[in-house]
Amino acid sequence: MSSPSSRNAGGGAAVAQAPVLEVTDLVKHFPIRGGLVGRRPTGFVQAVNGVSVNVNRGQTVALVGESGCGKSTTARAILRLIEPTSGSVRLDGVDVLSLGPKELRKARRDMQIVFQDPYASLNPRMKIRQALTEKYELLGAEVTSRTIPDLLDTVGLADEYADRYPHEFSGGQRQRIGIARAIAMNPSSSCSTSRSRRWTCRSRRRSSTCWRTCRTSWA
Ligand SMILES: Nc1ncnc2c1ncn2[C@@H]1O[C@H](COP(=O)(O)OP(=O)(O)O)[C@@H](O)[C@H]1O
Ligand SMILES: [Mg+2]
Repeated sequence: MSSPSSRNAGGGAAVAQAPVLEVTDLVKHFPIRGGLVGRRPTGFVQAVNGVSVNVNRGQTVALVGESGCGKSTTARAILRLIEPTSGSVRLDGVDVLSLGPKELRKARRDMQIVFQDPYASLNPRMKIRQALTEKYELLGAEVTSRTIPDLLDTVGLADEYADRYPHEFSGGQRQRIGIARAIAMNPSSSCSTSRSRRWTCRSRRRSSTCWRTCRTSWA
């Protein structure tokens, strides 16, 4: 199985700072269990084998590789949506892999993921305003009358879209909503599981991101 390679863009201004995200020798092996429940693994899928990558603030890093080479697994393991087999992940110097459930929930504010299929992650009966507001409320943040319009504006959508349902959007617009949800809390790092369509935000930066560090880009 080939390994994903990382490609790096826009890091010129940020190289002097400590990396916001440091991933070292990340490994994820999935056990293969045949036959009866509870049987010992008969082998392992070596989905991720020793991935190391540093992301500086304001920098975008893309993991590139053929289908099945471990890109999504790498992203999920970094966010601990699945537990890595071994390796180290540090976000703003904090060892993410040693965090307990409560600390991990807090750290997740700073690590957001944009899913490949945004429609699957949106409640079809919830208007976008509510879906975005919920994100702030979950994290105990204040929502003013400008919060949602400003967030939509950041991903290039007009205010009026807030009162539409997910099925009323095109695929590209849903991707933007997925990105809006990911950057709502101004995370220090966000992760996309697919090549997002290029999109434009207020600062006219473009993103075809796998990782983007947000605080400097979106503040
Ligand atoms: N939950 C899982 N159990 C077993 N194997 C898995 C699991 N998730 C992914 N894999 C395997 O890990 C490998 C990498 O998958 P993935 O990270 O989704 O690839 P990519 O995103 O690069 O297309 C594939 O061989 C896939 O079949
Ligand atoms: Mg994938």
